[in-house]
Amino acid sequence: MAGADLSRAGSVYIKLNIPGPAPWPIIGSLVELNKKDRHHGRSLIGSWNSIKRYYGGMSPQTLIVGDKEMLRKILVKEFANFPDKITLKGINGDLETSVINLRGDHWRHVRNKITPAFSVGKLRKMVPLVDLASDTLVESLRRKVKDGDGVTDMLEVCGAYSMDVICSTAFGIQVDSQNNPNDEFIVHAKKFLILDFYSPIFLILMFLPALCWLMPHIGWSIIDNDVQLFFRQVTTKLLKERVAGDKKHADFLQLMKNVQQNHEDSDEDDDRDNDDENVSRSKPPTSWSRKGITFDEILGNAEIFFFAGYETTKTALCMTCYYLALYPEYQDKLRQELSDVIGSNPMTYENLRQVKYLEMITNESMRINPPFGRTTRVCVRDTEINGVKIPAGMQISIPIYNIHLDPDNWEDPEKFIPERFADMDTIDPMTFLPFGYGPRNCIGMRLAEMELKMALAKVVRSFQISVCGETEIPLDLKKLGMMTPTSSTLKMLEIKS
Ligand code: HEM
Repeated sequence: MAGADLSRAGSVYIKLNIPGPAPWPIIGSLVELNKKDRHHGRSLIGSWNSIKRYYGGMSPQTLIVGDKEMLRKILVKEFANFPDKITLKGINGDLETSVINLRGDHWRHVRNKITPAFSVGKLRKMVPLVDLASDTLVESLRRKVKDGDGVTDMLEVCGAYSMDVICSTAFGIQVDSQNNPNDEFIVHAKKFLILDFYSPIFLILMFLPALCWLMPHIGWSIIDNDVQLFFRQVTTKLLKERVAGDKKHADFLQLMKNVQQNHEDSDEDDDRDNDDENVSRSKPPTSWSRKGITFDEILGNAEIFFFAGYETTKTALCMTCYYLALYPEYQDKLRQELSDVIGSNPMTYENLRQVKYLEMITNESMRINPPFGRTTRVCVRDTEINGVKIPAGMQISIPIYNIHLDPDNWEDPEKFIPERFADMDTIDPMTFLPFGYGPRNCIGMRLAEMELKMALAKVVRSFQISVCGETEIPLDLKKLGMMTPTSSTLKMLEIKS
């Protein structure tokens, strides 16, 4: 942000008297932000039903918005003025063209093109891929019980499951990452996911984001160059082998190949009516005339599924198993409902949706521990919301984690009570945002929900999950990045049918 804009944004704070810590030279409010808890420091703000501000060092000032009415406007009603996320250009390598890093009309074009790949109809066709991966998960848990005492590193097994699902749904590649950790694809995918937050590049990003433009010129990006080359070559090869419109493949690469060649799929079973307000079908922009998507956009988006889908799903699954181990009464209730609704029948997209308690449990787990603790927007046009004049360029931070744990939003917020979600109509969506909200919400939400439900249902049907001597209670979370536990050990006992 240019100096003039900075002082303009600063003067908005002063005029409107928006509270927040006084910035330190160079590091801004970083000390306060890291106090006590990782997501904006609870000490910074008491109640989150409000609006506060902080300065992220040399980066522009940021408004933290927890106020429900303001959020509704920013995320939905005034979305046209807040379409972008905070992104740093030039450091993302091949991910630069992924939907998460795009802005404005370019984002709208690509999002619009790839959204149909996440429709209910397409998802149904992906069920066999998720089914296979969840069978592999159950088999590996069975081996743990047979070969040892059932004490299981849940991060490892949930991570392997999440990896298997992404490899098959994004690239159409079948791997058993638990048993084949040295598979070339797995080795590169894992390297791809390693982000060193203490590396010089991240320190520069935090303290001197204005220098980002230099990165591509000196060959720096947040992703290793060899790993990028590997994925480029694999994607090129796989796309060459694919024919547009081929119905054999149900993965995202195939769906994006169809879009690239303007071969729109018209599945009869695409359930468009099911698209609710929270699943975006943004209209294509008039200023963007290109029809299909490019190779780089396919590559960037296939790769972003690793970044956006791996750690999130692994964390959500791992945390839900942890809560089920802590609360065996909820686990029993879930097992009973699974038996009443599905019995020993195969699990399908439809019958999993009928097990209401499954959704209540995953929701409550993601309320207490949302894998993404916060999300962002950027204001692109001066906008007044509820008397607050937000200038173009101002960053908005949405403290998902704090909103979920605010006693003004949830009674006894630290307690795990799945019954809170018995009637979704009573829940204000602005108080429950694990997948964000509005036209820029999580594009993979339905896939993630199906993935979580399928794995949990199969695990709970076959095993009693319990805590053991090695279980850390409460779980410690990583200091940076997503809200992933540092370890999670549980004990599995096979249920003989
Ligand atoms: C439990 C699992 C997941 C959680 C909790 C989660 C959460 C989120 C959140 C909070 C956002 C930001 C939304 C906003 O700002 O309104 C997001 C964006 C996104 N997610 Fe997910 N996600 C999950 C799984 C997935 C999966 C499996 C995929 C891909 C297959 C995926 C792909 C994306 C993408 C591409 C975006 C960026 C969308 C855009 O900017 O247009 N996510 N996710």
